[in-house]
Amino acid sequence: MGKHVVCSVDDLPIGSMNSFKAGAIRVVVYHLDKGFFATQALCTHTLGPLARGEIVEGCQVQCPLHRARFDIATGAVVRWASFPPGIQLLNVVRGAKTLRTFPVAIRNGKVEVTA
Ligand code: FES
Repeated sequence: MGKHVVCSVDDLPIGSMNSFKAGAIRVVVYHLDKGFFATQALCTHTLGPLARGEIVEGCQVQCPLHRARFDIATGAVVRWASFPPGIQLLNVVRGAKTLRTFPVAIRNGKVEVTA
């Protein structure tokens, strides 16, 4: 674990997210109304790139592939894969799994992720 500066605060307006390398780990950093957060970059379902998904309800990320939703602050699954219809059959072998989250700090206008 180490602290890694990934971008400037100005690079991520409120309501946006982007993917960055934090040391050896790729993360997505989110700027929400309640601050900055970071999760692993790939969905725990079948590795969908979360940064290409959407922030929904102001606090959740929806995966672009099968629309699983995760709580950004905790990584908890809010809704598991649900698209296209029938994807749930796969859930027998790919059960819901929490996203890993990482601490974020703001220092001198820079976003720092511990990963
Ligand atoms: S890869 Fe994210 S929901 Fe399937």
